Amino acid sequence: MAYITIQIPPDATPGVDTLTFQYQGQELEISIPYDAQVGDVLQIQVGANDDGDVAACDGVDGGSDNIDGIAKGEIGKKSSPLDEMDGVHDKDETTVTGSKDDTSVALGSGTNPSFTLQLVESRPGMTQNEGDGTNAMVWPSGIVLAQALTCDAAMEYMNHMFNRKSAAESSDTSFLHCMELGSGLGVCGLALARALKLQNIEARILLTDLGETAIELLKENIQRNQQAFTSDDRTVNVEATSLIWGETLPNTEKFDVILGSDLLYNTSESYEPLLQTITQHLHQDGTMVLAVRWRKPDLEKQFFEKASVLGLKFVLWKDVMETPQLRTRCPCQLSWKEYGDSECEAFKTFFCETKVSISNNAKSLAEINESDMEYMSDTEYTKFEECQIQLYVGKFVNIDKTAAKKRSIGDISS
Ligand SMILES: C[S@@+](CC[C@H](N)C(=O)[O-])C[C@H]1O[C@@H](n2cnc3c(N)ncnc32)[C@H](O)[C@@H]1O
Repeated sequence: MAYITIQIPPDATPGVDTLTFQYQGQELEISIPYDAQVGDVLQIQVGANDDGDVAACDGVDGGSDNIDGIAKGEIGKKSSPLDEMDGVHDKDETTVTGSKDDTSVALGSGTNPSFTLQLVESRPGMTQNEGDGTNAMVWPSGIVLAQALTCDAAMEYMNHMFNRKSAAESSDTSFLHCMELGSGLGVCGLALARALKLQNIEARILLTDLGETAIELLKENIQRNQQAFTSDDRTVNVEATSLIWGETLPNTEKFDVILGSDLLYNTSESYEPLLQTITQHLHQDGTMVLAVRWRKPDLEKQFFEKASVLGLKFVLWKDVMETPQLRTRCPCQLSWKEYGDSECEAFKTFFCETKVSISNNAKSLAEINESDMEYMSDTEYTKFEECQIQLYVGKFVNIDKTAAKKRSIGDISS
């Protein structure tokens, strides 16, 4: 272990901002403690912890030895309400229960029979994780999307999508081809499998993530939750394979549905590779269903802007977001363009008037700071997370066809 010191710069806000620095070629980030002041010198302890991660602990003027975060790439730190990032380990009993190696997520609402997914987070003798480790837990937006996929409104939406496909194509291709990107433990893909089984829709669902360790976990979770999607007559096949964003599957298979939850956290550099994989694999008439947990809207919007340029337009999944159930959980009905826009009155109203109860005090999203987050109960934390989650659907808007038509008219006149 070694120590370095950093002075809090004059324009920084303790309790809100973070400081990044380079250590042994790796960028580390540390939250500025809320009880620190501008000009204070933070003593940062850096070095490898038991897991081999580079850890950073800080204390003001060498004071406390509180661990403020494990700095691993860009993840695992809390800095502000919009920057905060944490997975679900042991949460709200009504929806999620968990032990160290097992998380349960209850699916099904309205007229649908319930089913509880059991998701393992590690396996004996699991080897080094090739990714950033975020696959080994269930994320709040994953739970929201999984539960949304099994609600009545989403089932109706998918049934409609399937009927359209069946009418348009011959019977041997009327399987619904689905894929999930960055599946983690597979919560969303398995929920989709459940929803399609309940709708009697034949489908193949491919769960993907980065590296063999993640795929081992996914295969284990598919195996454990077979009952969710197997039935005597119709078949839903669920498989797992490694797929790194920017790459394509060997046969460039096209999918009718691509799912993704909490994929935009990983710096804007990942957006182009992610979009490359999406646009390579999404059928021209297919639908991408995306759960977004907003943390840095200015950055995350770039994903939607880049998608737009490629002809892939995302709109709020209103069929589901406007249901009373989702409206209560994820109240933000704004578009991605409006979210986080400090000039947008509707966003300002949302941010200043959406309240979360913390120890019996109602605080708006704008007021919540890092120390509030530390004292939130599991239920309060879930509510806080869900206020910053939205579900979108993306489809190709066929701008190319219009452009091609215009060009061909030009050729004739010459
Ligand atoms: C925040 S987790 C979300 C996991 C899951 N979707 C959920 O909501 O619970 C992000 C996931 O994306 C995966 N991921 C990150 N970068 C990736 C990349 N370049 N290629 C493929 N998967 C990636 C991670 O391994 C992880 O499983």
